[in-house]
Amino acid sequence: MPTPDPLGRFPAVRLRRSRRYAWSRALVAETRLSPADLIWPVFVCEGSGRSEPIASLPGVERQSVDRLPHAVAEAIELGIPAIALFPATPAERKTPDAREAWNPENLMCCALRAVKQAHGEAIGLVADVALDPYSSHGQDGLVIDGYVANDETLAALAQQALVQAEAGCDIIAPSDMMDGRIGHLRAALDGAGFERVALMAYAAKYASAYYGPFRDAVGSAGALGKADKKTYQMDPANGDEALREVALDLAEGADMVMVKPGQPYLDIVSRVKREFGAPTFAYQVSGEYAQIAAAAERGWLDREGAMLESLIAFKRAGADGVLTYFALEAARALQAG
Ligand code: PBG
Repeated sequence: MPTPDPLGRFPAVRLRRSRRYAWSRALVAETRLSPADLIWPVFVCEGSGRSEPIASLPGVERQSVDRLPHAVAEAIELGIPAIALFPATPAERKTPDAREAWNPENLMCCALRAVKQAHGEAIGLVADVALDPYSSHGQDGLVIDGYVANDETLAALAQQALVQAEAGCDIIAPSDMMDGRIGHLRAALDGAGFERVALMAYAAKYASAYYGPFRDAVGSAGALGKADKKTYQMDPANGDEALREVALDLAEGADMVMVKPGQPYLDIVSRVKREFGAPTFAYQVSGEYAQIAAAAERGWLDREGAMLESLIAFKRAGADGVLTYFALEAARALQAG
């Protein structure tokens, strides 16, 4: 028999001792996941009494506005503090200037009003600001001479943010990655009397292949075609630049910052939290969800195990919360223990 210890002593420190029982593991757990950490992204479609499956996001549906209050009631019951709404705008309403984005009767505003009216302050409402769900070219900003023009886009984003605030949005989440948008939107909101409306900046948002299923869900994939968003979304090669983006957004008035996608960028989440100590969120994006869902469908991964492990990783990295399509399912699993 091999000698376990060449010095003839057994280890005084045995880390396995505290891993032995469920109770001892619970006692020494460094991070915890709770429903209060989760923000649920919800896709909204036209019509009434409708829910449509999304092929590339099995288990996720688009829902018509009339169905939202009921769906959101379950999120409230589960202890989820906020939802993020995303509209699937019909193609005939999309234009190059994306004017539907600031139509007070657009799908987003109708959804905000319906949920606010039904649930008041029981849950926070997050609304994305960016033009891609409304533009016929699928870009997040206004295209002038083939380039997504920064400063012209800011004016459009401010109009979009104002109709959303008016409709009852609690948190405006700019996902467009234009320079200066946080300061511009803060000034626009304050100028219109919306000091109460918070800004969650998609501060470090990367040009990612993991957004594919989302673009199917909101119908912007076809519009975008083979084009990409690399002139405004970040290069996956860069980390220091993410800290500069976050620093700017915080200086311009962001209340919370976000890193997106999540799992491939856990190093960024960790650096952002350590450097700034600000409320920091991660977006477990559509492609991350799809990976787990697809592998689980084939029996290659345990869905619940992979889901909970992927989510606790965000907490361990320092995130205060996670936007995730698993929100309801994770909250249910956590409640069940
Ligand atoms: C819109 C937006 C995107 C996502 C959130 N807001 C897509 C994009 O930038 O193309 C992606 C979310 C996901 O993949 O789950 N600007």
